Amino acid sequence: MSTVIKKGTIVAADRSYEADLLIEGETIAAIGKNLKGDKVIDAEGAVVMPGGIDPHTHLEMPFMGTTAAETWESGTFAALSGGTTMVVDFVIPGQKGMLAALAEWEGRATRQASSDYSYHMCVTGWSKQIFDEMPKVVERGINTFKHFMAYKGALMVNDDEMFASFQRCAALGALPLVHAENGDIVAALQQKYLAQGVTGPEAHAHSRPPEVEGEAANRAIMIADAAGVPVYIVHVSSEQAHEAIRRARQKGMRVYGEPLVQHLTLDEREYFHHSWDHAARRVMSPPFRDKSHQDSLWAGLAAGSLQVVATDHCAFTTEQKRMGVKDFTKIPNGTGGLEDRLSVLWTKGVETGRLTPNEFVALTSTNIARILNIYPRKGAIMPGADADVVVFDPKLSKTISASAQKSIIDYNVFEGVSVSGLPRYTLSRGEVVWSHGKNDQPRPGRGKFVERPPFPAVHKALSTWKELTAPRAVTRSPEHMPIGI
Ligand code: URP
Ligand code: ZN
Ligand code: ZN
Repeated sequence: MSTVIKKGTIVAADRSYEADLLIEGETIAAIGKNLKGDKVIDAEGAVVMPGGIDPHTHLEMPFMGTTAAETWESGTFAALSGGTTMVVDFVIPGQKGMLAALAEWEGRATRQASSDYSYHMCVTGWSKQIFDEMPKVVERGINTFKHFMAYKGALMVNDDEMFASFQRCAALGALPLVHAENGDIVAALQQKYLAQGVTGPEAHAHSRPPEVEGEAANRAIMIADAAGVPVYIVHVSSEQAHEAIRRARQKGMRVYGEPLVQHLTLDEREYFHHSWDHAARRVMSPPFRDKSHQDSLWAGLAAGSLQVVATDHCAFTTEQKRMGVKDFTKIPNGTGGLEDRLSVLWTKGVETGRLTPNEFVALTSTNIARILNIYPRKGAIMPGADADVVVFDPKLSKTISASAQKSIIDYNVFEGVSVSGLPRYTLSRGEVVWSHGKNDQPRPGRGKFVERPPFPAVHKALSTWKELTAPRAVTRSPEHMPIGI
């Protein structure tokens, strides 16, 4: 069975051109003029681009005494309806260990996912068990390990733990990811505001100022440099964190930065809204910032100092948010965005002239495919690539509303935002999984796990627990990840 996508403008990260696209089975077979196939998809007036990849989701994640309500089924359907054909979700090992937690995540994803998916593994402490499990995780096709510098007493790791894990990543050819906020300072500021009787969502923003993020981002970058490994900073929300990344890249360090579409478009005033529910629904870490930070992030995307736009989709219901009604530190942290990432970024980025369509594709798909070592299977429109394709129509428009979303959450942080640019069709490995105006849900469980091989390892000598725990001199090894993003 073949499909031809006709008369569209193919927009890739590097160029745009008019051509038809032939898909055979699950793969792009040819690009050219007047191609023929068993089935024809009309792309006239539309942009044909690689399916979006959201590298930052927390579907059904146990967190802060509850579990994120967005399921793998609803979350991946929401993703496909918005043009995202692959998500990368974070596995939290908890007390069970990495492999047991991975089995739990696999149980949920294989039954429910309708988009393709992969995982990042979280490192939430340091021990011989973690050291021993990391290579097994890499063998299972996971080449990224996430570290939380915040959430003290829960997920947070200290510098020595992070340094040990980063060195282990270097030896395994894996990339460390970091949530950069100084968890000690956040915990102290939280106590300060509670002691003053400031208990509402506005104190969430006050207790996590941009300096706390900038300090941690800089520290993570320096620790990565000492460990000889590149580093990827998730949910970059502030000029301070962006500055640390910019400076490091200027010095030749291989550092990547990922802003969220929420931080680019929503600001801290949300936390001062007269409705507690409204404000609490937007509580996430780092918090939304003022406009000057947004300008910095937009500039970084255009200049190349920031490479990826994600969502950190970690969605709780209003009822769950109300766990923190008397104490802002108990509001489950997280917001949604998976369904609306492409349309909001297109509207606020491309339509305004801040981003070119090619930059848009780079930021939503191609760059992260390269960083995660799955390019060109994913993130590319080229023969041999998986046929994950979005026929994106810049003339389709809507006003975002929870009442019409695929997400099962009872609100949407972009409620009332008008967007122009929506998927006319989304194809996942050649199958049409979303058609505008139809609303049909693809089969849960059709999504496939995408293996991500490790990068060439460095520091081979430091491959034993004994060597790693002994003091040593360190050097930077930028060849670890030989890509120029
Ligand atoms: O508030 C957030 N970001 N929740 C999800 C967990 C994380 O920090 O990424
Ligand atoms: Zn985080
Ligand atoms: Zn996250």
